[in-house]
Amino acid sequence: MAEPFLKWVGGKRQLLDVISRKMPRHFSGYYEPFLGGGAVFFRFLPKKAFINDSNQALMNTYQQIRDNCHLVLSYLSDLDQALSAEFYYFIRSDFNARVKRGVYDASLAAEMIFLNKHCFNGLFRVNKKGEFNAPFNGSRGSSFNRRQILDVSHALQDAFMTCKDSLDGCFLSREARGMKEMGRRRAFVSACFLSREARGMKDTLCRVAPSCGVSSRVRRGE
Ligand SMILES: C[S@@+](CC[C@H](N)C(=O)[O-])C[C@H]1O[C@@H](n2cnc3c(N)ncnc32)[C@H](O)[C@@H]1O
Repeated sequence: MAEPFLKWVGGKRQLLDVISRKMPRHFSGYYEPFLGGGAVFFRFLPKKAFINDSNQALMNTYQQIRDNCHLVLSYLSDLDQALSAEFYYFIRSDFNARVKRGVYDASLAAEMIFLNKHCFNGLFRVNKKGEFNAPFNGSRGSSFNRRQILDVSHALQDAFMTCKDSLDGCFLSREARGMKEMGRRRAFVSACFLSREARGMKDTLCRVAPSCGVSSRVRRGE
């Protein structure tokens, strides 16, 4: 069973039971505009999933695990073997330099997982320039679980992934069944949003929902 493999700010793991109760039992498509660590996606593993996040390094990581899983695992083993504080800071600079140059590949995906596991608080944090700047957390353990990454790769095989600004558009999930009974379609947006995102998302939903014939609900989390 696939599980989130990155620790991510605003993850929804603690809310999974609540979200689960609110999820429609049947739906034809699952759209997650702010994927982050993907707690909800990995819990429900919807068949027809459209997943998106504007963080390019993050979406590259999912994409590389889907398409080049064994290469990512091999890079991860190499990184773990060299683990030290000095090496962590070397990889951190390398990661930032490669993001700046737009080099999104399997090696960058491995660096992201490595940094996420060995950084302070285990959270992906960037400064105003967009550079990952969390310090080393001193951990010596492995940065990945091979079985978990293989399961994630399997779970992602049919997912349609994008890396867009969701405030420019909107992803809506419709219930496949029960629509007629309800007499209207219902939008399910799986995410809690930071306040700026919540406002933007709410505005976008209000703007596009009527033309799609759907009603929408936005839950503001933080
Ligand atoms: C709180 S996390 C999502 C948590 C996730 N839904 C979960 O269940 O673990 C928010 C994510 O939204 C992404 N994000 C922020 N603004 C965005 C935007 N305008 N368009 C798309 N993604 C955005 C961030 O990169 C971040 O990964």
